[in-house]
Amino acid sequence: MFIGHIALPNRLFAAPMAGVTDRPFRQLCKRLGAGYAVSEMVTSRKDLWTSLKTSRRANHDGEVAPIAVQIAGTDAQMMAEAAVYNIDRGAQIIDINMGCPAKKVCNKWAGSALMQDEPLALEIVEAVVAASAPRNVPVTLKMRTGWCATERNALRIARAAEAAGVAMVTVHGRTREQGYKGHAEYDTVAAVKAALRIPVCANGDIDSPEKARDVLARTGADAIMIGRAAQGRPWIFREVRHYLDTGAHLPAPTVAEARAEILLHLDDHYAFYGETAGVRIARKHLGWYTKDLPGGDAFRREVNGLEASAEQIAAVGRFFDTLAEQGERLDYRATVAAIVDAHSIFVKSRQEPQRGGEALAA
Ligand SMILES: Cc1cc2nc3c(=O)[nH]c(=O)nc-3n(C[C@H](O)[C@H](O)[C@H](O)COP(=O)(O)O)c2cc1C
Repeated sequence: MFIGHIALPNRLFAAPMAGVTDRPFRQLCKRLGAGYAVSEMVTSRKDLWTSLKTSRRANHDGEVAPIAVQIAGTDAQMMAEAAVYNIDRGAQIIDINMGCPAKKVCNKWAGSALMQDEPLALEIVEAVVAASAPRNVPVTLKMRTGWCATERNALRIARAAEAAGVAMVTVHGRTREQGYKGHAEYDTVAAVKAALRIPVCANGDIDSPEKARDVLARTGADAIMIGRAAQGRPWIFREVRHYLDTGAHLPAPTVAEARAEILLHLDDHYAFYGETAGVRIARKHLGWYTKDLPGGDAFRREVNGLEASAEQIAAVGRFFDTLAEQGERLDYRATVAAIVDAHSIFVKSRQEPQRGGEALAA
């Protein structure tokens, strides 16, 4: 799998997610089997490039290649300058955001809103390609299926982008109007794939090895991109890879492995953000890691009140010590089974009033 001249180790990509796919998370995903990970979007507004948030997003020290930076904006010249700025800071691939409901930039909505203005979208693509090509940096485009159900213009934009020199297109199988509601559809992704010569990546609702296999088969896409399902379960990449390679399921990570990966992730976090912000930002990741595990609720309540990295690390240690007593591997089903069980007791108790005529859960 290539993006332009850049070879990738596999076709499993981590989706760009603002507030999630920071450098530590991208490193983690790549360590656990993602062949490619795109940065959180970087604004095209020059006045924000020196802000702490944007300068962190443009920091790729020690990141495993290829380094891919997503840029967001509404002005072709500013987007071209943003491409050059990020290339000068290590970007090897520039991705244009037309897939995410990005914030207003210069009084216009950026990201997927651009799909409503095809001439502007194309002007941006051409300007970014013109700025990046002389630096030997491929440009990719991430978009949705269209603006709304009656305006699915992904195919038209993808064709124009290919003609303008874009090296890969990613399509999230929802319209902008849908936000994250409903289900992703893959017919539009398949139509884009069938029409283009450049690689096409399918995205949206891929949350298991079977779904990955099905989306690849249904769309004929060259690659798949996983976003939300990797939150708290970054090992999904190696699980999907193993399944696609062998047809068999990789066992869930051992408790010891998960603990080691999470502690490594935390270390990276504290080093990247510093103590105070590092502890605060790590809370959401710890919440995701433990969401469906036994004792996860109590752990999250505890961790949300901790302010020091040493306390956070100790809490993670205690949580995984307890898990290790219950089994060798992570068992997400244990919690799901407990919930189902509690639900069936609840339903049963409503149907079968206790002696004395009172329902248990009434
Ligand atoms: C918290 C969050 C932040 C996101 N930020 C971006 C972004 O900065 N750029 C972008 O193109 N897409 C962004 N997305 C969209 C994802 O890249 C992806 O297209 C979407 O989540 C669908 O994939 P999934 O079902 O695998 O999560 C974001 C999604 C989430 C949940």
